[in-house]
Amino acid sequence: MAAAESISFDRIADRYDESRGGEGRGQVMATEIEPYLAGASRVVEIGVGTGVVAAGLARLGHNVVGVDISADMLSRAHARLGARVARADGRSLPLRTDSIDAVYLVWVLHLVGDPSAVVAECARVLRPSGRLVVVAGLVHTEPNDMAEHERRLDALRKRRPDTAESVSTWASASDLVLVDQRQLQETFEHSPADHADALEQRAASFLWDLDTATWAEVVQPVIDGLRGLLDPTRARRVVQYRDFLVFSR
Ligand SMILES: C[S@@+](CC[C@H](N)C(=O)[O-])C[C@H]1O[C@@H](n2cnc3c(N)ncnc32)[C@H](O)[C@@H]1O
Repeated sequence: MAAAESISFDRIADRYDESRGGEGRGQVMATEIEPYLAGASRVVEIGVGTGVVAAGLARLGHNVVGVDISADMLSRAHARLGARVARADGRSLPLRTDSIDAVYLVWVLHLVGDPSAVVAECARVLRPSGRLVVVAGLVHTEPNDMAEHERRLDALRKRRPDTAESVSTWASASDLVLVDQRQLQETFEHSPADHADALEQRAASFLWDLDTATWAEVVQPVIDGLRGLLDPTRARRVVQYRDFLVFSR
């Protein structure tokens, strides 16, 4: 079977930061990743997007080089990081073998078409004892009144390839050794009204190409349900968990 295409984020570049937590989220991610970069001077982010995580790491003293397939996302990253960004595909990195101290990926492996090839590329470019940090896209949300409605969208989300188990399997196939694994907690405030607006604007990638009939049958009732909640403009606390894995070469 032919590998799937990567999903470029060109179409969401101008709304990406506002819909995904922006620099605040980037700083939280950077703080989680930074302890694994001790002594690393050559650090690469694959799927750097608008550069919010790399900018957070820059504030912590790490100069990251970021690559992405989306020119529009990269232009935002360039505004944050300067010349340390390049257009490149994670499946074929323009980097020498054994040359990099650490590579990290945040919310990327479910989009790259062939995630095992990307992990193999990470292993190739890492120097011996170099680190690979992966924040996988699979999300678990603690229940609240919004989640009651939101979970009806689960059927539309493509089965995510980037489970912790799969990531570990791809890494092991490239002779990377798991050195740490945990659930990363992300907490933010979001109102049902704002969430309904984000759905209506198709901010999430799984809604980009949804047909009109499925939208009317599945998504519109969720939007209506969110707007129909008591006090819909009051922000709720949203707690989500993602897989956080660290490998060594
Ligand atoms: C959800 S965004 C994550 C951006 C950033 N890591 C963050 O946490 O904000 C995923 C990014 O991966 C990029 N991407 C998708 N496939 C890729 C590939 N094969 N190689 C490099 N980047 C890719 C997309 O263009 C997009 O900018």
